[in-house]
Amino acid sequence: MKVFITNQIPETGIQMIKDAGHEVTVFPSEQTPIPRDVLIENCKKHDALLVAGFAKIDEDFFLQCPNIKMVSLFSVGYDSVDLAAATKHKVPVGNTPDVLSKATADTAFLLMLAVSRKAFYNYKKILDGRWKQFEPVADLGIDLHGKTVGIFGLGKIGFEMARKCKAAFDMKVIYHNRSQNENAERELSAKYVSFDELLSQSDVISMHANLTPETKGIFNKDAFAKMKPTALFVNTGRGNMHNENDLKEALDNATIWGAGLDVTNPEPMNKDNPLLLYPNVCVLPHIGSATQETRNAMAVLAAQNVIAGLKGEKLPTIVNKEVYG
Ligand code: DGY
Repeated sequence: MKVFITNQIPETGIQMIKDAGHEVTVFPSEQTPIPRDVLIENCKKHDALLVAGFAKIDEDFFLQCPNIKMVSLFSVGYDSVDLAAATKHKVPVGNTPDVLSKATADTAFLLMLAVSRKAFYNYKKILDGRWKQFEPVADLGIDLHGKTVGIFGLGKIGFEMARKCKAAFDMKVIYHNRSQNENAERELSAKYVSFDELLSQSDVISMHANLTPETKGIFNKDAFAKMKPTALFVNTGRGNMHNENDLKEALDNATIWGAGLDVTNPEPMNKDNPLLLYPNVCVLPHIGSATQETRNAMAVLAAQNVIAGLKGEKLPTIVNKEVYG
C-alpha cells in the first residue's frame, strides 16, 4: 500500500514502513508546512497518512480522501485532528506518547532555569559587545531552590517536569488536572489544587495540558493577574493555551516576573516579536522533543502505528479508541 509522509522523519521509521512492503512518499521538508491542496491531492492517492508538523485533519479531509485508512501522528498532541470525524469515517488515529516525555520535560526545565537567570538575554549581551566588567547588581536572576512549581496538566510530561524540579531544587509540587494523579501524590508528594490556587501559590507554572476548547486561551489577563509578581510562566504544551498580548502586558506591568516559551501563538513566532528582546523571556522554536534518541523513538512508534493500521490491526498507541467500537 501507499503511505504519504508530510515531512522528513528519521530514516529508521521510513525504512520500517518500506520493509513492511509499503511504498512511501515523503513531502520535501523545505516546502513545509504542506499546503492544504497539496495534502489533499496526495492523500487521494495514498492509503495512510503520517503527519509530521502541522496539518489540519478535519471532516472535509476525510470526505475528500476516503481511501485513507489510518492517520499516524509524529507527535503526542492530537489537537490538529477532528477525532469525532476520524471515528465517524472509521479512521484510527495514532500518536507518539511516552517516548517523548523526558525530552519534552527537559525543555520545560531548561526554559525555567534559563528564564530564572535571564540566560538568553545575558548571552545576547556578549554578542552585542556589552560584557565590559563584573557587575554586582546588573541583570540578576532569581533562585529556584525550595520554591513551588505548579504543573498545569499532570500527565506523563508534567510528571517528569515535576520530578526534575523536586530532585534538582527540592521544589514543592502542586498541580491542577482533570483528575487527581495518585502516582504523583505518592512519589512526589504532589498536591492537587484548584486552578485559582495553582495561580496564586506557584512560583513557576509549567503548562503540560492538552489543547482543548477548555484550555484554549486559559492563560489570559485574568489568570496572569492572579499569579505572583515573582512568578515564571513556562509553556511547552501549545501556544494557543496562552494569550500572547495578555502575556506581554503581564510582563510589561510586572504582573509576573518572566516567561519561557517553546510554543507560541502564532507559530512560528515572527523574528521581530518584541518578546524576543525581553531580559526575562526565553523563547525556543518548538523543540520540546528534539533529541536524536527521542525523534528516532517517535519515528519507530509512528511507523508501528502505520504498519498495524494498514494490516487492519489495532494501533499500538491509538488516540480514538472508540473507532474499534
Ligand atoms: C508534540 O509531540 O505534540 C509536539 O508538540 C510536536 O507537535
